[in-house]
Amino acid sequence: MPSPHNPLDSHLTRVLYSKEAIRKRIQELGREITDDYKDKNLVLVGILRGALVFLSDLTRAIDLPHSWDMCGASSYGSSTASSGHVQITKDVEVDLRDKDVIVVEDIYDSGRTLRAICDLVRVHQPATIEVAALLFKDKSDRASEVFVKYRGFTIPDEFVVGYGLDYNEYYRNLECIGILDPKIYS
Ligand code: IMP
Ligand code: MG
Repeated sequence: MPSPHNPLDSHLTRVLYSKEAIRKRIQELGREITDDYKDKNLVLVGILRGALVFLSDLTRAIDLPHSWDMCGASSYGSSTASSGHVQITKDVEVDLRDKDVIVVEDIYDSGRTLRAICDLVRVHQPATIEVAALLFKDKSDRASEVFVKYRGFTIPDEFVVGYGLDYNEYYRNLECIGILDPKIYS
């Protein structure tokens, strides 16, 4: 497995965003959310496991009282292409009724996971639901369109890892986000 300190020497063909660039962008998103949710009852709902790292930095960039929880969904088996079927593996436990929820996701790819989680959250009857995704894959043929209000970075339609994003459960601990060398999975 690659050293988190030398990602370019390891399994990435290119680093897209450094630790510092990610940190700066999340501070901006945190300020934006702080402005937008001043008079609201904010709850962040992160999607396990990929959004864990993003959520942990985003919550500390928001200067408002708020709570958060995690829910679980899995769609990628061990491959790099969405299986097309989203399984809910954990429901939300914090009370969402009449709250202002932001669903926090690592990446908006086919949109299936976000669609399934937004449907799950809606069952808990929050007042409002928005979506924050650290990465927004630039593609035209999405299975489910979901409005993503808070977007970290728009990236090319390539398979990326790091900062929570995995391939076969590895690389989540990389501090940067980069394109995984296709040799690793082909
Ligand atoms: P979607 O349901 O196709 O939008 O897929 C979303 C989920 O697939 C995300 O929560 C990620 O865990 C995973 N995923 C999608 N694209 C990538 C990628 O480029 N690298 C790593 N995981 C990805
Ligand atoms: Mg994943």
